[in-house]
Amino acid sequence: MGLFVAVEGIDGSGKSTVIEELRRLLPIYATKEPSDGPIGRLIKSWALRRGTSDPYTDALLFAADRLEHYQREIAPALGEGRVVVTERYVESSVAYQGAAGVDIKFIELINSRVPTPDVTVLLDIEPEKAVARIEARGGDAEKYERLEFLRAVRSIYLRRAAERGYVVLDAEEPPATIARRIAELIGARSSRA
Ligand code: TYD
Repeated sequence: MGLFVAVEGIDGSGKSTVIEELRRLLPIYATKEPSDGPIGRLIKSWALRRGTSDPYTDALLFAADRLEHYQREIAPALGEGRVVVTERYVESSVAYQGAAGVDIKFIELINSRVPTPDVTVLLDIEPEKAVARIEARGGDAEKYERLEFLRAVRSIYLRRAAERGYVVLDAEEPPATIARRIAELIGARSSRA
């Protein structure tokens, strides 16, 4: 079996850039959620564009996408012994749908069919700085990108990280530095396996 790594963080925390850097350092299988599968595409084309008005519906869609993504893409790659790095996973649902008012127990229950990653990394940044980054890249704010909301998302992420021992990295460090740190964590885990 390979190693399963999840990279989490609020919008604008630099997850994609860090994963791009990580690819230069290690042979990884990089993937993300919402996925490229049919449910992920439905989420991107509809749910994230103010399609749903009920955060429980969002939670169910993200959980369904995740289970389909895990079975179609992640499990086979892990089965080949690869290091799989997913940008967003269960903790995105806990933090975002939790901040939108969904009972976290409910989120955990509907996500209980997928395994917990071996390593979860949280890229932590102040929401003001993250939103400035999003604006600088000209990104149109999706439903979940408002500042007040991102403050709530960040606080759930940090609380969960403290409770569950996730690795919290300062997302204001250069992406290459953060990627090196993640590569070290992966190296340490792989040599123990
Ligand atoms: P993402 O694709 O990371 O954003 P970007 O468009 O910048 O690539 O994620 C899209 C949005 O979906 C993001 O605001 C977070 C949200 N999201 C949830 O609310 N719950 C989830 O479970 C996941 C995976 C994402």
